[in-house]
Amino acid sequence: MVDQEKYAAVADNFIYVHRALRRDLERIIAGGEELFASDFPLFARILEKHSEVEDALFFPALEERAPGSTAATVDQHRKIEDLVAVLASGSSTDTQTDLATLQEFLLAHLAEEEEKVMPAMMEHFEAAEIWALDGRIMEFCSPEFMQEMLPWWFTHIDAADRVCVAQNMTVGVPPEVLPVLCQWIAAGLDETQWNELVGQVPALAATA
Ligand SMILES: [Fe+2]
Ligand SMILES: [Fe+2]
Repeated sequence: MVDQEKYAAVADNFIYVHRALRRDLERIIAGGEELFASDFPLFARILEKHSEVEDALFFPALEERAPGSTAATVDQHRKIEDLVAVLASGSSTDTQTDLATLQEFLLAHLAEEEEKVMPAMMEHFEAAEIWALDGRIMEFCSPEFMQEMLPWWFTHIDAADRVCVAQNMTVGVPPEVLPVLCQWIAAGLDETQWNELVGQVPALAATA
């Protein structure tokens, strides 16, 4: 049976960011060259940071307790990074084919993390230890990055997921940081979506 407290602690990184990455890449592929030019750079920055946080924070912690459990996923990061670099630098000679390959690599990679790494995190750590790791994510992220990441994140997940992520934030983020995060989230949503979210997570209202 899944421990709900542990699940909440791993879900932001391993479920809700993954969903937004899948959805945004799908959208960019469907949007053709124009959308690729305008929106791929942000997708690339967010994917790069997501992988960096896993490589620098979550995976080393897990390797200490369960050696070898992230070997395959680290190799996948390198393969994905190389392809993103080709696409982001404008040196791809066939953008749509390279994007399709990226999607194939990324979907397999995210599935591997969800099926192997996330359960291993839940097996080898207590919920409080995972929350403590989550609390360190901000060390890797500049305010400028958070300001573009949060609206991107909340735009590319559905209303139910927004509620889960916002609830996790009210637990995992220091109270003095929450107001500015809320401003950035609100910037990505229309008024109806924001009011719906605040209706479900009233703690946000006090800060906005
Ligand atoms: Fe991931
Ligand atoms: Fe990853």
